Formats: sequence, structure tokens, C-alpha cells
Amino acid sequence: MNTIITGSNGYLGQFLCNFLSETGIQVKAISRGINKNIRINSQDYFGVDLTIEKDIFSVISSINPDIIIHNAAMSKPDFCDANKEACLLQNVSSTKYLLEAAAKSHARFIYVSTDFVFGEDGPHAEDSLPAPLNFYGETKLMAEELVKKSGLSYSIMRPVFIYGPCYEGMKPTFLHWVKNSLENNKQIKVVDDQKRTPTFVLDICKGLHAMMTNKVTGNFHLAGNDIISPYQMAIKVAEILGLNASLIEPVDSENFPEPVKRAKKSGLTCDRAKRELGYQPISFEEGIRLTFAL
Ligand SMILES: NC(=O)c1ccc[n+]([C@@H]2O[C@H](COP(=O)([O-])OP(=O)(O)OC[C@H]3O[C@@H](n4cnc5c(N)ncnc54)[C@H](OP(=O)(O)O)[C@@H]3O)[C@@H](O)[C@H]2O)c1
Repeated sequence: MNTIITGSNGYLGQFLCNFLSETGIQVKAISRGINKNIRINSQDYFGVDLTIEKDIFSVISSINPDIIIHNAAMSKPDFCDANKEACLLQNVSSTKYLLEAAAKSHARFIYVSTDFVFGEDGPHAEDSLPAPLNFYGETKLMAEELVKKSGLSYSIMRPVFIYGPCYEGMKPTFLHWVKNSLENNKQIKVVDDQKRTPTFVLDICKGLHAMMTNKVTGNFHLAGNDIISPYQMAIKVAEILGLNASLIEPVDSENFPEPVKRAKKSGLTCDRAKRELGYQPISFEEGIRLTFAL
């Protein structure tokens, strides 16, 4: 399968390119600027800004892919809110251009979406009604709608709060920030009234691989089983790494204002992926051990 992965320089993108390449899939990586993934050969990397329509058409027609996994996005909700016009271009227009290019190549389309398309009362099922609470979620939902209307063979994959190891040069993830802060004896405040079902990055890679090989269509959720707040996640990191948990202070989102609204009770259930793909996510505790190679 000749497979394009967009956003190959980002967190999930790097793991996904490496995981799928190791399974023997022909991966062609697209991201902005220079290739930041040293495991991808320069001839398999295409530096393209996905908001430029003509560049997308020329790169997709030259690769002529069987599958496009559209993972690139403006992915930080607060940044999206502060940069709405750019966010629309990166999250919605780029999806539209890629879908049009995919149609010309008769490629299947897998869209990487998010639990932020939903509102409160999670964990949400694959067929729950979306109701985004912020602009990031709105743009990801707009992109989902374009994918559904495209007429292509498509699937939509929604993960939640992705965590896992860091390759060299990557920005620290939430778990790494907790570890580094506690190791430096730094007090941290962490939100305790927002529940999520965090997803281990390699569980997503395995789930997406199963989606590709089983040629499934429609909505799939790939998340963890544990329903847990960021504060509880931080406490688990401290416990497992033997660090000082008393440095972690739980806070309510009301007392720790974030620029954009986030659901108190989000998270996703993954019944369809479990049933149709044999998806079995690891526990959050095991994920922490794998994150820090314990
Ligand atoms: N992280 C999470 O917890 C989470 C949770 C649910 C869903 N998701 C979704 O999962 C996907 C991956 O998330 P992530 O955390 O890995 O994101 P990320 O680290 O921010 O990576 C996104 C990548 O997309 C690239 N990109 C953005 N706009 C582009 C454009 N116009 N042209 C070319 N490349 C572009 C970025 O380029 P630059 O490196 O130049 O910025 C970046 O490398 C996203 O679709 C996100 O919405 C993430």
C-alpha cells in the first residue's frame, strides 16, 4: 500500500510513519518545511504547505497513493482560537484540497479527528452527536463533514489526549513535563475536573494499521480504557517514577482559567474498534512504564 501520512513532523505523525514503515507499508511523508523525522528517507519526504492547493495537487498526483492518512492539523485549541483564519485554512481548507486530490488518485482517505468534536457527557460513542465547545473542535468537525460528503471510501479516527515516549528533539509531552517538574522540585498545578480517556500513541498506530488492512469505513475511536483527569495522570506518573506527588496541586478549571472551553467529562468509548479490529488498548499505568522505558 502506497500510503501518504500528512503532518509527519508532528507527534503522532512521527510515530505513525515509523510504525507503518516497520510493517512494510510504503510510507510517503508530508509536512511543512524540512523533514524532522530522521527515520524517514529524504526521497520519501515531501515538504508541502497543505494550505496551498496547487502544491497539494502536484505532490499527490506524483505519489499516486492508495491511501491518504490526513493527520496534519493546527492541533492546540488555545492557539486555534487566537488564530482563527489560519486555523480554518490548516484544518478545513487543507482537508478539502486533499480530498479533491485523493479523488483524482482514487485513494482511500483516513481522517485523524479528535474527541473535541464532542461536548459534555462523555465518554462518547462512535455515533454520539458532535457538539464542539471550542473553535478547534468546530474546525475538526467541519473537516469530518467534508470527508463524509466526499464520495470517497473514507474512515474517521478519533483519539484522545495522546501520550507516549518522546523522540529526541520533540517538545516534551504532558507526562514529560510532569516528570521534569517533579525532578526539579517544582510545584505544579494540574486540572482535576476534566476527565479524559488518554490514548497511548502506539495503540493509535496499531489501531490505524488495523483500519487500513481491514479496509473499514466510517467512524472509529482509538482511546484508552481509563477515565482519568490530568491531575490523576500526574499523580500516577509520580507514583510510578517514585517522585514527590505532594508537589502536584489539584485545581478546578474555574480557578485555572484556560483561554478556550474544554469539556469536564469527555473521553471516548471504542466499542466498534474493539469489536471489528480487535483493538485492545493498554492501561494508563502500563503506558507510563512504556513512556519512560521502565
Ligand atoms: N495530541 C493530542 O492529544 C490529540 C488528541 C486528539 C486528536 N489529535 C489530532 O491528532 C493529529 C495529530 O496531533 P499531534 O498532537 O501529533 O499534532 P502536532 O504535533 O501539532 O502535529 C501536527 C503536524 O501537522 C503539521 N501541519 C500543520 N499544518 C500544516 C500545513 N498547513 N501543511 C503541512 N503540515 C502542517 C504541523 O507542522 P509544523 O510542525 O510545521 O507545525 C505538525 O508537524 C491532529 O490531527 C490532531 O487534531 C491530537
